[in-house]
Amino acid sequence: MNNSINNYRFAKFDIEFLDATFHLQSIFPRPFLRAPLGVPSWDQIQKKIILGQILNKNSQISYSQAMDIFEKMICQEIGSRFCIGTSTGRDAIKLSLLAMGLKTGDRVILPDFCCLSVLTPVLELGLVPVFADVASDLQLDPKSVQRVMQEGDKVLIVPHLFGGLAPMGELIKMARDNGTMVIDDAAQAIGLKHSSGYAGSGGDCGILSFGLFKPVSAMGGGAFITDDEKIYKRAKTVIKNTPGKEFSTAAIVKIYLKMVWRRWSYALFLVHRWRQQRGESQEPIKIFKNQMVGKISKFDAMMVVSQLKNALQDKEGMKKSAFFFASRLKEIPYLASLMQKEAVGFPRWPVEFVDSKHAVYPDFFKFMLKHGIEVQAAYRPLHSYIKEMGVPLEGEYKKSLDLYNKVVCFPFDSKKNDAKILSCLEQFSAKVQADKR
Ligand SMILES: Cc1ncc(COP(=O)(O)O)c(C=O)c1O
Repeated sequence: MNNSINNYRFAKFDIEFLDATFHLQSIFPRPFLRAPLGVPSWDQIQKKIILGQILNKNSQISYSQAMDIFEKMICQEIGSRFCIGTSTGRDAIKLSLLAMGLKTGDRVILPDFCCLSVLTPVLELGLVPVFADVASDLQLDPKSVQRVMQEGDKVLIVPHLFGGLAPMGELIKMARDNGTMVIDDAAQAIGLKHSSGYAGSGGDCGILSFGLFKPVSAMGGGAFITDDEKIYKRAKTVIKNTPGKEFSTAAIVKIYLKMVWRRWSYALFLVHRWRQQRGESQEPIKIFKNQMVGKISKFDAMMVVSQLKNALQDKEGMKKSAFFFASRLKEIPYLASLMQKEAVGFPRWPVEFVDSKHAVYPDFFKFMLKHGIEVQAAYRPLHSYIKEMGVPLEGEYKKSLDLYNKVVCFPFDSKKNDAKILSCLEQFSAKVQADKR
């Protein structure tokens, strides 16, 4: 009885929610998100794999066959000797740290301005994070790394952010001189090349991520890669008894519909913004110590295999439009583009507000939203999570704090919305100038 009442309420709520969204769509001048921050660009092949999963038709190929194809392809295309598919990029970082033999209390250096998923594996393994600052291009600053690095530091994690590249050669040399191992984190830089080859292949270990909003997007998934046989063998032992997890049909349908709906729905966007404004996205994180690492699912492995080669080849077109985009952005007086225009692989474009952050910021969000363009503040500095946890804080983070107040990202997909976004930025610029007068 109780159950049926709850069900009824849920159904009613769902319908009201849908109605409300349609209602909102009719009120707003632009009835949908023209340019969401991240919608996977799946073509017919990926859609067939999704449908195959829903209809249980992907079973012609076994889990171990799919894994074999996936791991061989990553090794061949990215250029590494060994690969293990993991359930997320985060788990690939964890697997790297475990395979490198780190023990509770070991120090790990990472940038303060970065995705939270880089910090959580460090904390889950009971390691001590040491933050290094970033330079004005948002990448890890070797000078800051030099200042925070101590003898005995075990690992330096080098993420390449927003499709740009960190100065890998310099960082690797510094780490080698100190006897520190390097994780080359290419979660946001798949297909870009640094001095040691494809991003991911430069350190003692490397990681890739295939989450929904990544350039090669499955519904999750990551990869751990290394050239070092000893590290690989240890990683194999860590993951030996992990069962391969598969998505349920319901989960696939849910994620897929959410993605489709997201593009059209202001309501989901507004709920998200409302939560952000209430500070819910700033809740302290809860970390549970655990050493579990998941394997990639067969479904995600197939999705990656179907996209990887194209994604690695499609960089020239991306670079051209990034070059054009970056040069046009130079004409906007209140923004400085932070993207290195020669190295692009990520669908988010970070910009910095020059000198007028307080006056422009909230208006900017509203203005872009009105035109259907999703804008997000950049990363909350990682040290602030540690501060809340009462754990001793080590490292440098002056620049990243400054960037937190000034950097926002908007979508960049090199095909559909660039002209629209540029025109909105120009209109907003005119508005700022007019307000000043
Ligand atoms: C730089 C970086 N490293 C690692 C990760 C973790 O990847 P995943 O989301 O697959 O866990 C992310 C996620 O966005 C990331 O941006």
